[in-house]
Amino acid sequence: MLSIWKKIPEQIKRLSFLVILIVAGYLLISPLFIPPDFGKYGHFRASAVEEIASQQMNYVGHEICANCHEDVSVIKSKGYHKNVACEVCHGPAFLHAEDPGSATLEAPRGRSYCTLCHEYLPSRPTGFPQIVAISHNPMKPCITCHDPHKPEPPVTPKECSACHATIARTLSISYHIYLPCTRCHETPEKHKINPREFTPSKPSTREFCGGCHSIDAKSDKGIPRIDLATHGHRYVCWQCHYPHLPEAK
Ligand code: HEC
Ligand code: HEC
Ligand code: HEC
Ligand code: HEC
Ligand code: HEC
Ligand code: HEC
Ligand code: HEC
Ligand code: HEC
Repeated sequence: MLSIWKKIPEQIKRLSFLVILIVAGYLLISPLFIPPDFGKYGHFRASAVEEIASQQMNYVGHEICANCHEDVSVIKSKGYHKNVACEVCHGPAFLHAEDPGSATLEAPRGRSYCTLCHEYLPSRPTGFPQIVAISHNPMKPCITCHDPHKPEPPVTPKECSACHATIARTLSISYHIYLPCTRCHETPEKHKINPREFTPSKPSTREFCGGCHSIDAKSDKGIPRIDLATHGHRYVCWQCHYPHLPEAK
């Protein structure tokens, strides 16, 4: 067999590939292989629409839950989890809403579920409530202390680091390690309960930093000095020095 193949001239071999390609191409676009209802509405099978529409629904949305679980829905609408949909935690509930008796739902009572959103990760937005699970009240289920439908810390966190962990860690290895956060941010007590409504102040002028760093400032001797009139031109200091990790090099 192989010896016959070897005897065929090279140009005939190439030509035969071309012929096979053309025949295969023709078969592909011929009515033999294209479903009859293709192209009726557009570049797809018309019956595909019905097939997809007839699939079993999985999710119903959270509005319908209130019909039967009004108590939970009312509680949840006032808490921190108001924007976390019921089915995120309880799973797809279409069948349950149709017939609660035969299709029951699970409640995620274990610690590992809550940590999907709340485990500390530097890439989460600043201020998003995060914990380090192995040191945050280990072994006990989260729901013994936090109501999953209206979660609240049982006591107001005292430290800024409870919510601003990344900044606190950065500051703790910087030249500014001994400056308390509140030296630069005046923080209303209510910020710790309702952080987005009561925001702390942020320094806004060069003079603020100059209060310690200007050559004529009345601050401790060891603090490095700059000439406020010329150093860094008119730019605010934190365009060049990250205030939570200032470096001069
Ligand atoms: C038609 C009324 C109805 C609707 C709509 C409904 N439920 Fe239920 N649900 C019930 C009833 C009744 C039970 C109690 C069933 C039982 O004890 O076997 C129940 C039980 C539950 C449980 C079980 C809790 C446990 O004890 O472990 C959860 C969770 C739940 N529902 C969540 C939901 C969510 C989420 C929705 C909306 C997507 C929803 N339900 C919509 C009637 C309803
Ligand atoms: C953050 C996750 C989470 C969300 C969001 C959530 N649940 Fe739950 N739910 C739980 C957990 C955990 C339990 C178990 C509580 C327990 O055992 O003490 C539970 C329990 C329940 C129960 C049964 C016992 C009870 O506490 O009344 C019902 C009913 C229920 N949820 C309905 C809902 C409905 C309706 C919504 C949306 C309005 C919702 N859940 C949203 C986590 C959640
Ligand atoms: C799908 C993501 C998600 C899951 C799962 C989840 N949470 Fe949350 N949690 C949030 C969001 C979003 C907020 C509101 C954050 C905000 O207001 O900035 C929040 C807020 C909280 C807060 C309020 C902290 C504060 O004072 O600012 C606590 C406590 C909390 N969740 C506990 C839990 C517990 C316990 C569970 C498990 C039953 C859980 N969470 C599951 C998303 C989630
Ligand atoms: C023994 C009770 C207890 C248990 C169990 C517990 N917590 Fe907490 N949680 C607290 C207290 C007290 C605070 C507030 C003080 C602090 O920050 O430590 C808090 C604070 C929080 C905060 C918010 C801090 C902030 O930034 O506003 C979140 C989020 C949180 N817990 C989630 C969880 C999760 C998730 C679990 C389970 C893995 C859990 N908690 C288990 C008692 C508990
Ligand atoms: C309960 C959690 C929590 C605690 C505790 C907390 N913060 Fe915040 N903080 C937040 C949240 C959430 C934001 C809003 C973040 C955003 O909008 O991206 C925020 C924003 C800020 C901002 C920026 C304000 C702005 O206008 O950009 C500063 C500054 C700040 N916090 C400082 C502090 C200081 C200082 C402390 C301690 C005295 C503290 N925070 C304690 C949650 C908290
Ligand atoms: C030396 C003064 C100084 C100290 C100390 C300081 N900050 Fe700041 N912080 C600033 C300045 C200045 C800005 C504004 C930076 C900007 O606008 O780009 C800022 C911005 C912020 C912001 C909002 C922007 C961001 O980076 O997310 C938060 C949140 C914040 N600081 C929290 C804290 C916390 C928490 C501490 C304590 C652990 C702290 N700061 C300590 C000066 C300081
Ligand atoms: C309360 C006084 C105080 C304020 C306000 C202050 N600093 Fe500092 N700063 C210090 C101290 C203390 C050091 C560390 C001195 C040392 O140990 O070398 C320092 C160090 C520095 C350094 C030197 C780092 C190096 O590599 O030598 C820079 C840059 C700096 N701060 C920038 C700023 C900026 C920008 C601001 C305004 C957002 C600011 N500081 C506000 C006290 C302050
Ligand atoms: C345009 C960028 C820029 C701006 C804006 C700027 N700096 Fe600097 N800063 C530098 C550079 C670069 C160095 C290191 C070289 C030097 O000493 O000039 C430095 C050095 C410093 C030092 C250390 C001086 C020493 O002797 O060790 C301090 C303190 C300082 N800056 C504070 C500030 C303060 C406070 C502001 C706001 C008033 C500010 N900087 C604005 C770029 C800047």
